[in-house]
Amino acid sequence: MSINCTNREDLENFMVKHLKPSRYEHSLGVEKMATELAKIHGADPEKAAFAGRYHDIAKGFDNHDINHCIMKYNIDRKYMGNPALAHSKVAAAILEHEYGVDDEDVLNAVKSHTTGRVGMSLLEEIVYVADAIEDNRDYPELKELQAEARVNLDLVCYHIMNYAVQMIMEKGRELDEETLDAREFIKERLKVE
Ligand SMILES: [Fe+2]
Ligand SMILES: [Fe+2]
Repeated sequence: MSINCTNREDLENFMVKHLKPSRYEHSLGVEKMATELAKIHGADPEKAAFAGRYHDIAKGFDNHDINHCIMKYNIDRKYMGNPALAHSKVAAAILEHEYGVDDEDVLNAVKSHTTGRVGMSLLEEIVYVADAIEDNRDYPELKELQAEARVNLDLVCYHIMNYAVQMIMEKGRELDEETLDAREFIKERLKVE
């Protein structure tokens, strides 16, 4: 395979060990959806599959594990005590430092899957969108968004970001500035289409 990964079997075991069954199923769902979207929109399906499958490997980490990894991998300290935002950064660090993954686009796709990112690549956008619309998700607009994603990726990405911002505000959760900046970035990109 073209993506460097020192020990794929060990990575699989790591994922199974650390994710509850529903999160594991979600990961397979993101892999499937990201692969499909990559084929449609001209990204590398293998990279999409890999990033989709392993994007949430740190999702099961508690505060202690997350903080330990933030220190170990020298991740921005602002994520201390915030697994909801940190799990994507920690997952990318584990893939890079423990499994030798060196594909920058793959690492960025994992890193930005929670918030999006200004300047996000096609692959990053695909993983971000696939995370929200994979088949195991359950909300009324799911089928509509899946159909839209096959036609206009930027538009569906913008809709998902709007929804994410709305949900974060409603639930009183901390909104990472990156999410708002990423939404502006996608909005600008939509204007030039
Ligand atoms: Fe996640
Ligand atoms: Fe996810």
